[in-house]
Amino acid sequence: MHINGTPHRTVRLKPGEPHVIQIIDQLKLPWAFELVELRSVDEVALAIKDMWVRGAGCIGATAGYGMWLAALEANQEPDFHSAFQRRAEQLKRTRPTAVNLAYAVDRHLRLLQEHPEPSDFLPRAQALAEEIAEEDVQACRLIGEHGLHLIRALHENKPAGEPVNILTHCNAGWLAFVDHGSATAPIYAAHAAGIPVHVWVDETRPRNQGARLTAWELAQEEVPHTVIADNTGGHLMQHGLVDLVITGADRVTGQGDVANKIGTYLKALAARDNEVPFYVALPSSTMDWSMGDGLKEIPIEQRNGDEVACMEGQTASGTLETVRLFPSASPAANYAFDVTPARLVSGLITEYGIFETSPQQLRHLRKKTEGG
Ligand code: MRU
Repeated sequence: MHINGTPHRTVRLKPGEPHVIQIIDQLKLPWAFELVELRSVDEVALAIKDMWVRGAGCIGATAGYGMWLAALEANQEPDFHSAFQRRAEQLKRTRPTAVNLAYAVDRHLRLLQEHPEPSDFLPRAQALAEEIAEEDVQACRLIGEHGLHLIRALHENKPAGEPVNILTHCNAGWLAFVDHGSATAPIYAAHAAGIPVHVWVDETRPRNQGARLTAWELAQEEVPHTVIADNTGGHLMQHGLVDLVITGADRVTGQGDVANKIGTYLKALAARDNEVPFYVALPSSTMDWSMGDGLKEIPIEQRNGDEVACMEGQTASGTLETVRLFPSASPAANYAFDVTPARLVSGLITEYGIFETSPQQLRHLRKKTEGG
């Protein structure tokens, strides 16, 4: 997508220096746009853990490139296989909920089983990292095409000239992937097709990915939008001001339960109560077919309470400051994700099309992902 009119991807190998990973430092957005270079697995792990990169697809692609660096580092050690395995585990430990990370790491581990000779494996590891990133781009592009039909249908039923109002939570935009985004892909596609859309952007406490990242991306693409406090969505739905909810996902189980940024479940409840369609957009790399009951099985990341207690922002003079929101005598809990049960999800927008969360439709999706 575009930054000041120039197309960018969130993560790539540095042109001319394929041993260096280049990322956008998302901690600096929206105040500054800076590229950062990662030159070791330690740096990649830190960038994922501390959220310089974040969002399921972007984490997955970065981890994929991290595994290429892991192969280069392991090649300097006496036991290639155990050195590579150690680094794979290091990357997997960084963040537990988004399954794309494990997906990218495990694909490299499987590749090593097929090509155990390091000199044979090395070029393949780089090619696989590029493939994972490219697949993410193409999946998100297709999610946009499929989701566009939903938005077009809603538009046809609206009075002339009125935009389709779409609510989204967190950042499942292009910053959370390599390009296009998942939840935003249909929005960008509709905007490009000339369908008037307006996006309600949940601020998404505690890290404010909606206010800081989604709003920034939408502004860059000139998509009309409004930032709202997290508790506003239900009120808007009760007053007919939301036509559609589209969120992303960090992991979706085989029975269609959706882990996504904390607060998603409450939006899904409000959507059901108000008969607003609630769709989840995801590339198939976010499906976890090994899990069934999301509430019981999906690991929910808990982060430092300081992320709840403190907030960074810009002062009137333009400097960045972090303020504490309540006295340090009060502890804070920071659950980063929640699980929305399949029964509240109208459908999954994937690169293979849109699927309901019924067992039959999920079987159909699984077949597609397995090449059937
Ligand atoms: O904690 P983050 O910023 O990595 O959060 C993940 C997310 O961006 C959201 O949960 C998103 O909606 C799904 S990931 C595309």
